[in-house]
Amino acid sequence: MQLQSRHLIDLEGLTEGEITLILDTASSFKEVLERPIPKVPTLRGKTIVNLFFEPSTRTRISFELAEKRLSADSVNFTSASSSVLKGETLKDTARNIEAMKIDMVVIRHAAAGAPLFLSQCLSSVIINAGDGAHAHPTQALLDLLTLRERFGFLSGLKVAIVGDIEHSRVARSNIHGLAVMGAKVGVCGPATLMPREVERLGVTVYPRIEDALAEADAVNVLRIQLERQKKGLFPTVREYRNLFGITRRRLDEAKRDVVIMHPGPMNRGIEIDSDVADGSHSVILQQVTNGVAVRMSVLYLLAGARTKLEGVEQE
Ligand code: CP
Repeated sequence: MQLQSRHLIDLEGLTEGEITLILDTASSFKEVLERPIPKVPTLRGKTIVNLFFEPSTRTRISFELAEKRLSADSVNFTSASSSVLKGETLKDTARNIEAMKIDMVVIRHAAAGAPLFLSQCLSSVIINAGDGAHAHPTQALLDLLTLRERFGFLSGLKVAIVGDIEHSRVARSNIHGLAVMGAKVGVCGPATLMPREVERLGVTVYPRIEDALAEADAVNVLRIQLERQKKGLFPTVREYRNLFGITRRRLDEAKRDVVIMHPGPMNRGIEIDSDVADGSHSVILQQVTNGVAVRMSVLYLLAGARTKLEGVEQE
């Protein structure tokens, strides 16, 4: 089985079988990452450019590590040290880089639609590493892998996503991915940060955090984008924490084995308290670990993989 699309722009359109293929392949790569020399020759000869127009720690480094673990040649681009500062457009930047003979582009951009746009004007494979408030597909895939590892299944799992749903590409991609895999998704956050008609995405809206937590097997806590406060979308950080913050006290009222997730970076003491983020329910660092394997899987499958994991069985 192979992925139908040449690119990974979002999770809409991916079937349950395709998501399962990505997660199964990632699980195989996790075994590679445990080896003394965690490297396979699978993408030898492929050149990948990581085109980051927005800051990133986890996504950028894990893509770069994934590329190195697969023996690809990778090059990092950051807009702050590029000719973008001289006014070069996204299209010109990307087409000039492609003229240097590359195979794949990993792009993060503040504008929703930038990866789709590149897929229409380049012949390289495009992978979305987060575009505006639209999508962050590899984050959702690593979240799905983390949940599947913890629970052993995804269908029927109850996952609450808490925070700024309106502006969150993580929320949007998680909602699509979880729905395809048969999980039940609840969303909770200030009404001003909730998309209009969000129920049409198949989610249950919980106005009170206590109700969302009581039902959930797992809670995915979103980063509050503090710049939203300046726009008056929530009153104060203190009030946000009081109404929606994941505190130890609130966790004590949740299911005994509830799992706490966060895509990072965290605002400790606002959307999540440190004793929760660092506590026994947290899988936040497992998410980061899984990010490398999931990105290896996506790179491998989009590079035109055949069913057998070439190089993985060797050694
Ligand atoms: N989760 C995530 O996208 O983190 P970074 O912004 O650090 O890549």
